[in-house]
Amino acid sequence: MAEPTSSSGAVNVPPLLDLTIDNITPNTIRINSQSGDARLTYVMARLVTHLHDFARETRLSTEEWMKAIEFLIACGKICSDEFILLSDVLGLSLLVDSINHPKPVGSTEGSVLGPFHTHDAPLLENGSSMTSDPEGEPMLALCTVKDTKGNPIPGVTIDIWETDSSGHYDVQHAGRDSPSERCVMVSDEEGRFWFKGIKPVSYPIPNDGPVGKLLEKLKRHCWRPAHVHFMFKKEGWDHLITALYIRGDPYETSDAVFGVKKSLIVDLEKVDKETAERYGVMEGIWLLKHDFVLTTEKETEELRDKLATEALQKLGLNLKLVDHLPVPDLD
Ligand SMILES: [Fe+2]
Repeated sequence: MAEPTSSSGAVNVPPLLDLTIDNITPNTIRINSQSGDARLTYVMARLVTHLHDFARETRLSTEEWMKAIEFLIACGKICSDEFILLSDVLGLSLLVDSINHPKPVGSTEGSVLGPFHTHDAPLLENGSSMTSDPEGEPMLALCTVKDTKGNPIPGVTIDIWETDSSGHYDVQHAGRDSPSERCVMVSDEEGRFWFKGIKPVSYPIPNDGPVGKLLEKLKRHCWRPAHVHFMFKKEGWDHLITALYIRGDPYETSDAVFGVKKSLIVDLEKVDKETAERYGVMEGIWLLKHDFVLTTEKETEELRDKLATEALQKLGLNLKLVDHLPVPDLD
């Protein structure tokens, strides 16, 4: 009997017949291993292994399998951001960020991106207001961005976004015609950036879709503690996605998407007379002060490689890093 051929015509897999609970996994991995791309082969092999083990360990019922398929279809139908939300509530987003952007002690830790960053935020001069919400409690933010040695980093592009006082991002309002409660700034020669916004409020993540229903079933709440998002970009520096959380929020220790870290919790102050005059704001409004610390791409890369090597050794896997990602070490 002729052996089956792959789509590329290569004959390198045995006939896939009489597959069982016990041999389906190695055979699936073999048929997936023809691309010549070591990383793709490895990732697919691990995915299939864990997926199959999941089914074997849970004795996954046909009904449950179908429910999962329907759940994923529903996620895709409601909005593509539902998948980010799903990744967030499963803790995967935070895990991937932690693996990819490890932070040396003293640098600013990362947090979840969430589904509400947009690419149309206006580039504003330092000192500008990014709020158009008259109901929000005014807040002045005075920030710096420095390296791990305390030197200012000028020319960093910073995306900043938060909800309005009702706990909604602008994109959640029907009929949004322009960005609001978001902007892009650039740090000055002394690494400073400053803006006017509003005191952030806690808000529920979208809970009218499949992910919301899942949380309800799991008896989990859907709230995020009050925060402002920040994203820092400059060539040669590690891309930092983070957020600052306001101390004392009722959801501080139970964030629905696991984004809070102690180092990212801040105390708001009140603007004094001198600061008010200097920045052209009312005395007594909220003041957010924070010094962000970036690491270089090289620093992050070295730390990521070191942690990856240690983690793989601990797992006892015979792997090597190629382009900073593990693949089987066949040498
Ligand atoms: Fe958020």
